[in-house]
Amino acid sequence: MATDSLTITDNRTGQTYEVPISDGTVRAMDLRQIKVDEDEFGMMAYDPAFTNTASCRSSVTYIDGAAGILEHRGYSIEQLCEKSTFLEVAYLLIFGELPTAPQLDRWMFDITHHTFVHEDLKHLFEGFRYDAHPMGMLLAGVGALSTFYPDAKQIGDPEERYMAAVRLIAKVPTLAAFSYRHNMGLPYVYPDNELNYAENFLSMVFKKTEDRHIPKEALTKALDVLFILHADHEQNCSTNAVRGVGSSDVDPYSAVAAGVAALYGPLHGGANEAVLRMLRRIESPENIPEFLERVKQRDEKLMGFGHRVYKNYDPRARIIQQYIEPVFEATEYSPLVEIARELEKRALDDEYFTERKLYPNVDFYSGIIYEAMGIPTDMFTVIFAIPRTAGWVAQWMEMQEDPEKKIARPRQIYTGERELEYVPIEQREGPEKIVGPPARRPKRPRRGA
Ligand code: ACO
Repeated sequence: MATDSLTITDNRTGQTYEVPISDGTVRAMDLRQIKVDEDEFGMMAYDPAFTNTASCRSSVTYIDGAAGILEHRGYSIEQLCEKSTFLEVAYLLIFGELPTAPQLDRWMFDITHHTFVHEDLKHLFEGFRYDAHPMGMLLAGVGALSTFYPDAKQIGDPEERYMAAVRLIAKVPTLAAFSYRHNMGLPYVYPDNELNYAENFLSMVFKKTEDRHIPKEALTKALDVLFILHADHEQNCSTNAVRGVGSSDVDPYSAVAAGVAALYGPLHGGANEAVLRMLRRIESPENIPEFLERVKQRDEKLMGFGHRVYKNYDPRARIIQQYIEPVFEATEYSPLVEIARELEKRALDDEYFTERKLYPNVDFYSGIIYEAMGIPTDMFTVIFAIPRTAGWVAQWMEMQEDPEKKIARPRQIYTGERELEYVPIEQREGPEKIVGPPARRPKRPRRGA
């Protein structure tokens, strides 16, 4: 018997099966041979939320949650944040290796020269209500890109794939900034090719009447590092959405729009916003012990703490901390920093949190930095989507090359009725309950609505 195998005995039949183990996993399809009757479908694995299922093979990002390690293509996140730029990391994620100087020049040139969006896309944004959520606008904008670049449907063409990668990374910041300007009722600001990636984004967000908006270096450096920290995080909810939707061979813009939609959800991209709300409610460091008691009573959640994968200090949270001082020196001091620091210290000294392996995650400090930059909370998730676009593209590209690529199509355990006889409507009986909320008289449309 092979040692790299799993022996399963089906106690229903007494039959024994040998299933190969490779990379610490068994193939779910190898379970299919396990059946009681020959004409049965065969055994499946049940794993709602994929908590213990590897959905692909990937060489983009490595995480060791117990040790608090994050690496992209083998390079530690600490080294990348210290020595690289976001665009270099985006190249690394997508093409698998750090670029040489000429490769990086070309990559930066291509990204810089694709930051403009078609004027019709601007008109699309103008059609949104004044208070439309910027993430909803970004979602629509990224989806709409597919209509401007129909050739991207040729996903087997490496040139088209490259152009889609460039356009997505170049244009998502422009769409993100347009969504902010629309919200604020300000004119949209066009990209400035003389600025770097982070500077250009801040210029499109904040430029007023000045000829050129050059943000403070402390802010652009911190933002570039935040972009690196959020660039990829292996098979998270939004990446899984991109791969799932992309597996139908749809164009990459539509697949990435699915990623934006997944990130929009409060359980994924919205936690740093919740951290700010929590810190504001705590109000002052004296109130922390009482707040932590409420957390222990389960009346509150300590937002920005805990992670599905990291059961140690999130390495990204450690890196962010180095940028808090420089950002606040360049902006205005926020008392929320003291509350956050004291809250972290007390939680890390408390057995309740250490026993449960609850440590600060990337979101604990990122919102404080965004707020210091003058970015409103509604925009936090939009800013998360900018760097994550590089990760989504890298994972989408990798999937195209995967010899095992197939349309994603999970199975289910059916729990409903079977083989019922159709009942004509006049013979149907049952409770008088009407599905849906009570019918209301239609409201008179508001003026201008
Ligand atoms: N505050 C208080 N208690 C917590 C917290 C928290 N933030 N997170 C987990 N716990 C407790 C749970 O109540 C549970 O306690 P118990 O064993 O006594 O019942 C224990 O710790 C284990 O928690 P799980 O819920 O099993 O952990 P899971 O891996 O499912 O959840 C999650 C991870 C969702 C991130 C959770 O820690 C959480 O809600 N944190 C706050 C939200 C947050 O910061 N999200 C950002 C994540 S980073 C990102 O997405 C970019």
